[in-house]
Amino acid sequence: MERDPNLLVGAEQWADAVVYRLSKEIAIVQTLDFFTPIVNDPFSFGRIAAANSFSDIYAMGGKPVTAMNIVSFPIKEMDKAILKEILHGGLEIIHEAGAVMAGGHSVEDPEIKYGLSVTGIVHPDYFVTNQNARPGDFLVLTKPIGTGILTTALKGGALNDKLTAEITELMATLNKGASEAMMEVGVNAATDITGFGLLGHALEMAKASKVGIRLNARDVPIISEAITFAAMGMMPEGSHRNRNFCSNDIEISPQLDPLIIDLLTDSQTSGGLLISVAREKADLLLQKLIEKKITTAKIVGEILSKPKKIIEVR
Ligand code: CO
Ligand code: CO
Repeated sequence: MERDPNLLVGAEQWADAVVYRLSKEIAIVQTLDFFTPIVNDPFSFGRIAAANSFSDIYAMGGKPVTAMNIVSFPIKEMDKAILKEILHGGLEIIHEAGAVMAGGHSVEDPEIKYGLSVTGIVHPDYFVTNQNARPGDFLVLTKPIGTGILTTALKGGALNDKLTAEITELMATLNKGASEAMMEVGVNAATDITGFGLLGHALEMAKASKVGIRLNARDVPIISEAITFAAMGMMPEGSHRNRNFCSNDIEISPQLDPLIIDLLTDSQTSGGLLISVAREKADLLLQKLIEKKITTAKIVGEILSKPKKIIEVR
């Protein structure tokens, strides 16, 4: 484990990204992410992978500055135009984030993979982590969940064009506005919802902050078609792993439809921010989110001091 005093957030703290202080005024925040295609259209894949890569910077309230491409591509077997489309999609999102594309690295690989390494800046005293959620806080989720189930359905050829376009836009939407809104309001903790699903990332936040969480399943924004596909058994592989990872620490109200738990543990790609905000500021946060055109945000729960289990779902 590294012990540099300027390493304000390192890898050991369930953190979204790494924060390193350069001076009293400025710290860099760094992250990287890449994965295999989850949609068929290469341009869309590039946009989604790039938006996902920025997410950890936004979860910490950072402003992205530079991005570098990470590429695996079967350059001898596959048309280079596909790679160009992926990179073009990524570049569009990099520009939307206000960052500059500064280079990258590619390797030959039978399987396509793409993502970004992103460096951003934060004030060393005013960034957000998942460690400071406080009892009484409300929890706000900014994007609906269900993209893991729906991209599994897409792979199985079961998703129509309209729904494919909808989830593509959702996943390609940067958490930029959500991050700006939370920094304007001042919040206690945040994280982004990705592979561990809403429950997994909520559990990380609770453990990191040494608090409990009550999640109100009925208030969680869910893409309605995801419930239909979950009922048909379209579950991504990660869901069972997520459920096992969480099971000892979670108490689920017996009245809840088990399908809802499938949604709450659904692995998300480029999911929304989960923000812990002082109760009296929650309305202001929702209002700021709406000003930034984020209309899907909802209060989904609250922070508890001493629950029976770390997370209560009711
Ligand atoms: Co994260
Ligand atoms: Co990440």
